[in-house]
Amino acid sequence: MTAIRVTGLRKLFGAVPAVDDVSFEVESGSILTLLGPSGCGKTTTLRMIAGLERPDAGEVRVGDRVVTSAKEGLHVPPDKRRMGMVFQSYAIWPHMNVFENIAFPLRGKRLPAAEIREKVMTMLQSLGLEGLHDRPAPLLSGGQQQRVALGRALVGEPDVLLLDEPFSNLDARRRDEMRFELREVQARVGVTTIFITHDQSEAMILSDRVVVMNAGRIVQEGTPEAIYQRPSTQFVMEFLGQVDQVSARVATAPDGSSRARVVGVDDIEVPLDGSHSWRHDDEVVLMLRSAAVQVRAANGAGGWRGRVLSRIYLGERTEYVVGVGTARIRAFGPTTDLHDEGALVQLDFPPDAIRIWPAARLAEKTREE
Ligand SMILES: Nc1ncnc2c1ncn2[C@@H]1O[C@H](COP(=O)(O)OP(=O)(O)OP(=O)(O)O)[C@@H](O)[C@H]1O
Ligand SMILES: [Mg+2]
Repeated sequence: MTAIRVTGLRKLFGAVPAVDDVSFEVESGSILTLLGPSGCGKTTTLRMIAGLERPDAGEVRVGDRVVTSAKEGLHVPPDKRRMGMVFQSYAIWPHMNVFENIAFPLRGKRLPAAEIREKVMTMLQSLGLEGLHDRPAPLLSGGQQQRVALGRALVGEPDVLLLDEPFSNLDARRRDEMRFELREVQARVGVTTIFITHDQSEAMILSDRVVVMNAGRIVQEGTPEAIYQRPSTQFVMEFLGQVDQVSARVATAPDGSSRARVVGVDDIEVPLDGSHSWRHDDEVVLMLRSAAVQVRAANGAGGWRGRVLSRIYLGERTEYVVGVGTARIRAFGPTTDLHDEGALVQLDFPPDAIRIWPAARLAEKTREE
C-alpha cells in the first residue's frame, strides 16, 4: 500500500493563489479528508494530485515515486498515476450498462475477457450491485450511479482513490448510507484515499485525519476528535458545528489568576488558560458549542442562568434560545419537562464545550507577534 505526500503545493489563477503552500501526508491505507468552505481550494488541490492541473510550486509523491514536481518540471500524466477518481457529478457513461461502465478502465489494459468479467463481478458484489450488471446506467438511482462510479474508480486496483464531494447530489438518507458503505469498501480494499467535502459531519464520519482549509491554506490538521475538541482558531470551531458567542472581559482574581467575566452578568466567570497572554480588562469572546449545552430548571443562584427566549420542538429533543445577559445562546433539552418562554433556566455544559479567544482586535495583534 502506498502513502501520499504533498509538499508546498501552490496554484495561482491570475495573481490570486487558489492553493497556497499546502503540505500534508496521507498514511498508507487511510482516509484523509480535505474540509473547508466553498472556494477554499479543495478541488484545485485534488486536481494537482491527480495530475489534471500543474502546480506553480510543490511536489506530490505517491509511495517513493514523485508524480509532480514543479521545481524539476516533472509531471506524470493522470492515466500513469495509478489513481482512481470520483467526482461530484455522476461520471458514468450513459450509453453503457453497469457492467461496461465498471469494466471500462480494464478494457484499455488488454486483459483476457474472463479476467475482466471476474474483476467486475467481484466489484459489483462488494458494492451491493449484484444482479444489476446489465441495467442501462441511466436507469439507476443516484446512489447506485455513484456506486458504479466508485466501482469504476476501484476496479483497476489503484494505489490512490480521490473523491471530490461524491455524495453531494444524493438525498440525506442515501448520503448517510453511502458514507458507511464507502468506509467499508475502502477498508476492505485498503486503498489510500483523499476525500473532499464541505460538510463537517461527513468529514467526521469518514476520516482517519482531517485537513481544514480556508482561503487556499491549511488552518488545522488532525484526527476528527482532535480538531473538534481542540480547534486551533475561531474559524475551525465555527466551521465544525453550531456555536454561540458571548462577550467577556479579562478579570484578575486576588490570587493573580485570570478569568473571563461575561459582560453584563456579574457572577459568570470562566477560568482562562495559558494559551494567550491575557491582560486585565482585555475583551475576549467565549464560544459555546450549542450541541453540548443542556437546559434545566434554575435552582439556586449563580452560574449560567438566563431566560427562555424561544423554544422549538425537534421531535427527538427541544431546542431553546436562552438570553444570558445580552447574549443569545442555543441549547437543548428533553421533550418532557418543557420550559416556557420567559422561564428562568440554568445552562449546563462540560468544560470542553467552551473555548475562549481574544476579541478580534486582540487576535490580529497576537497573529502579528
Ligand atoms: N480554472 C480556474 N480558473 C480560475 N480560477 C479558478 C479555476 N479553478 C478554480 N478557481 C478558483 O480557485 C479557487 C479555489 O477553487 P476550488 O474549486 O479549488 O475550491 P473548492 O474548495 O473546491 O470549492 P467548492 O467547495 O465550491 O467546490 C476559487 O476561488 C475558484 O474560483
Ligand atoms: Mg470543489
